[in-house]
Amino acid sequence: MVGIGNLWELMFTPVAELEIKRFKKYGKLYGVFEGNRPVLKVGDPALVKEILQRESDVFPTRRDVSNAKHPIVDLIIGKRGDEWRRMRSTASPKTTGQLRALYPLIRQSLAELLTSITAHVTHNKGNSLDINDWFERYAIDVLARTLFDTNTNAYTDPNDPFLVNARRVYRPPLWKIVVTLLVPTRALNALNIKTETNDRAVDFFYEISQNLLKRRKEDNKSVSSGLKSTGHELLSDNELISQLFASLNGGFASVASALAFCCHELALNADIQDRLHREVTDGLPPIDADGDHNNYDLVLKLPFLDAVVAETMRLHGPSLRPSRVTGKDYRLADTGLTLERGLIVEISAYAMQRSDELFPLADQFIPDRFAADNRHQILPFTYNPYGTGPRGCVGQTFAQLVMKSAIAYLVRRFRFSMCADTQLPVPLTKYIRIQLAETVYLAVEPRD
Ligand code: HEM
Repeated sequence: MVGIGNLWELMFTPVAELEIKRFKKYGKLYGVFEGNRPVLKVGDPALVKEILQRESDVFPTRRDVSNAKHPIVDLIIGKRGDEWRRMRSTASPKTTGQLRALYPLIRQSLAELLTSITAHVTHNKGNSLDINDWFERYAIDVLARTLFDTNTNAYTDPNDPFLVNARRVYRPPLWKIVVTLLVPTRALNALNIKTETNDRAVDFFYEISQNLLKRRKEDNKSVSSGLKSTGHELLSDNELISQLFASLNGGFASVASALAFCCHELALNADIQDRLHREVTDGLPPIDADGDHNNYDLVLKLPFLDAVVAETMRLHGPSLRPSRVTGKDYRLADTGLTLERGLIVEISAYAMQRSDELFPLADQFIPDRFAADNRHQILPFTYNPYGTGPRGCVGQTFAQLVMKSAIAYLVRRFRFSMCADTQLPVPLTKYIRIQLAETVYLAVEPRD
């Protein structure tokens, strides 16, 4: 176990940097203490497979990130066993049919994003633009349309309540973060301290969700999650609401930040941007000239777009270390370790993705790693930006559709480049467990 000090390091070094630093120093299997709580860190592909996939029943839950008692935060994330299976089976659109049905909503939102950015760059010629801000607007508008059957004013109004509250979710006060790391959950419960949640944001989304369910019941419509999932009758109102919140929570900042990082890389790598521009111009019809045309399949199948997004997720994906809690005393392969029931295990996913041993020239943006001819060189269980196994991200395909659509149509219409305001490296949101861009300033000019 690495002696601690560990928590203090966290206060001064971004988590992403710390993960890489420790992986380089201590290797594929090491431990840290958070306060007096031990955490095992695993970065060996065979062990990752064992924990996340092969023996996933032994590691049935994720670590607690919140002890909030509010029903909306009673997330799928913390559920286990049959309860989790029931929630999971109805969470997020997974089938092609479900995704295809949502695509027009994504496209409408995207068309508004393009119009808004065009107007903005026309009126602010020569000025840089914080693309992260625009992607947060896009992410919340898409999620509001698909989850809550609501259109927002996020593109025109920075005080739009959906936007403001979605942003709040990821900005809990610093003391709450420190407390979560240091104080055992039981003690927090006794003191009624709710951690890592922003109460105002939670209350807002709770009310919005209740209204949505009420409206649907009054209209005699099915009480679906808005993601049009099937089997929703199995869920209580509170479970449905908490599922909505889980999707909003999982999707909002992750999608926005990944998109912003992607444009940043394209600005740094003009040749890659031009190649992508050629692919999307040849491969896709214009977005606003084709009311009924469904280019869902085209967007998902463009190979270079796929590679660009995959490489962005390798370098800049928000999730750094998916976690599991050991469900029973367990001997871990041939490591000589017996993990005690209740031990937290974290997968060093991000550090693995940034390792030169696993990904040659790991710090460079090389989408061709993910080209069909090269993909086989990536070792299984070394690339996990969405987690892996039965508890992997349930919104992965939906997220990819939302992200690929945005990148395809933005690159088709605009050229991104560096400007005086562009910062290297990208500044990250502080004191949170995941990696999120705070701002990404770029020069954006129309291509035609
Ligand atoms: C770039 C976008 C996204 C990334 C990088 C991401 C990443 C992740 C990761 C790493 C996990 C944990 C997986 C594990 O522990 O093995 C997760 C879980 C989850 N994600 Fe995502 N996610 C994204 C978008 C979304 C979206 C758009 C939704 C919903 C619409 C969503 C819903 C969820 C849910 C509900 C879980 C919990 C699943 C369970 O416990 O069974 N995510 N996500």
